[in-house]
This record gives sequence, C-alpha cells and structure tokens, in this order.
Amino acid sequence: MANLASIKQPVALEMREFQGHFKEAMRTSVPLLDHITRYIVRSKGKQMRPLLVYLSAAASGGTQERTHIAATLIELLHTATLVHDDVVDAADTRRGFLSISALWKSKIAVLVGDYLLSRGLLISMENDGVDLLRITSKAVEAMSEGELLQIEKARRLDITEEVYYEIIRRKTASLIAACCAAGAASAGADPDRVELMRSFGEEMGIAFQIKDDLLDFAPSAITGKPTGGDVKERKMTLPLIHTLQCLKPLQRRALVRGIKRSKDNPAEAQRIMDRILEGPGMAYTEAKMKEHRDRAVALLDALSDGPAKTGLIDLVDFTISRKK
Ligand code: IPE
Ligand code: IPE
Ligand code: MG
Ligand code: MG
Repeated sequence: MANLASIKQPVALEMREFQGHFKEAMRTSVPLLDHITRYIVRSKGKQMRPLLVYLSAAASGGTQERTHIAATLIELLHTATLVHDDVVDAADTRRGFLSISALWKSKIAVLVGDYLLSRGLLISMENDGVDLLRITSKAVEAMSEGELLQIEKARRLDITEEVYYEIIRRKTASLIAACCAAGAASAGADPDRVELMRSFGEEMGIAFQIKDDLLDFAPSAITGKPTGGDVKERKMTLPLIHTLQCLKPLQRRALVRGIKRSKDNPAEAQRIMDRILEGPGMAYTEAKMKEHRDRAVALLDALSDGPAKTGLIDLVDFTISRKK
C-alpha cells in the first residue's frame, strides 16, 4: 500500500509551493486572527484535497498557475468547514490538537470559519477564478445542506441507508468532487473530462466519509479526533444503521433509547459502541466502502496510464486504509 509521501511524488513540487500559497492566503493584520490562523497552519492535516486537485490537473493536461488557486481555495473552504464543524459537533480535539472552538470558544470559531471562507472567495475573484468558484460554491452549498439534513435526522434517530448516503454525498463527497473537477478545469480540460473527474471525486468522497465514520470507533490518540463522537452526537452512521436494521424491534428500541442517554454518559456511549463493534455493522460498512472505491477506480479507466493516474488510484486506496 502506497503512503501519502509516495503518492505526492508526481506533484511534489506543486505540493511544496502549495504550503507557501496557503500560508500567504491566511495572513492578516488583525492580531487575534493572525494568531489563530498561524495555529491552523501549524496543525495542518493530511492535505488530501490539494493533493487531489494537483493530481487531477496533472492527469488532465498538466498543472498550471491556476491550479494553485484551486488548491488554496479548496483547502481554505475545507478548513473553514472543520472549524465550524467542531462547534456544531462540540468536538474538543482536531488533528491531535485542541480544536479552535475548545481553545478560543465558539464565538470566535464561528467568526474564524467565516473569515476563512471569505478569504477563499476573494482569492479566487482576484485571480480570475470565477469558473473555479462556480465549481466550489455548489459544493459549499451542498455541504451546509448535508450538515443540516444530518442534524434533522439526529433529532429523530430514524435514518435509512439511502438517507445516510444522501447526507455524506452532500456534506463530504461534494467538496472532494469539486477538488477533482476544479483541478481538471484549471488544467484546461474539456467539460466531459471535468464531469468525469467530478464523478470520480464523488465516489471517492463517499468512500472517504464511510472510512471517517469507521474511524470514529478508533482511538483518539491515533485519529487526533474524539472517539465515539458520532454516537454521543446522535449521528447515525452506517455501522449503527446496519446494526439497528439487523435487530428485532424490541432490541432496536432499547438501543435507540441507549443512544439518547449517551450524550453525557460515557459508560452508556461505550456500551453502545461495543454493541456496534460486536455486530454485523462494521463488516457491512467496510464492504460498502469498497464498492464505492471500486466505482471510483473504474471511472479512471478512461484516463491514459501514467504517474498521475496511478497517484489517483493509490490515493483512493489510501483513503480506505488510512488510520487517521
Ligand atoms: C475531515 O477531513 C473532515 C471530513 C470530511 C470527514 P480530513 O480527514 O481530510 O481532515 P484533515 O484535513 O486531514 O485534518
Ligand atoms: C464532517 O463530518 C463533514 C464536514 C463537512 C466537516 P464529521 O463530523 O464526521 O467530520 P469529523 O469526524 O469531525 O472530521
Ligand atoms: Mg465532526
Ligand atoms: Mg467523523
């Protein structure tokens, strides 16, 4: 299995340049904001989205100066949604550090998220990136819809597998699809190729969020995020949905009652997680994740062979096997 460093190889130079672009994009003369954005730059994540932008561009004609705009814009939007997401999910840790909302409280986290979003918009406008903005704003719209749909369903704890896919398609796959589409568009690809790359990114993005939902059961020392946050926040992810589906009505109602009690009751939350881990939900979820992995990789058949295509395939495989 290829690691991230080797997957970056075909676009190593671009990824190095990206660090400068991203840092520059976050610079501000407001001291508190500057303090926080420096903290964000220091606690950077996997940077899979910029990598996906560059590989998609490289596979669709070659990276251009505009590809940096796309990568910077998308990582800014991604960072903004994470800062907001940790407010919504009441999550204290992110990337192994305290979350912005834990360190500076939600009031500031909301404003910092807004600031990052607006920086992304401005940078694309200033650099003639209206087409890139069109691709990404649709994704941002879908992300908000997905998060709200999820909250609505968490309230009632009644979600089907179909609704689950609808939620993750919007909240996560839309931005990963935008990475691939914007990368290809920045390289001057024709509309059919841009659309193909968007579809690839969507399938990959679904597999990505399914993996994230599996990782919610993993130790926070490895993931850098709270363990069991989804159960506590009453988020119905596929391992739980499938577990419930396989239970008899009486047991199902008992498990749902347990979830409602789990928020401020760590022992109850752990009990529910153990139930899910013992049941058929984890293996079923793994199988579904692999189906989306296969669909993503199959879409790349249309691309000519080369390091960029290999990088994209390896990145999909990294996505479903990663530990954080
Ligand atoms: C986390 O994304 C948010 C989700 C959509 C699940 P990543 O796992 O890519 O986060 P970082 O940027 O590497 O921390
Ligand atoms: C996040 O889903 C999706 C976003 C659009 C940010 P999660 O809430 O599961 O992401 P993590 O686990 O906090 O990164
Ligand atoms: Mg979250
Ligand atoms: Mg998660």
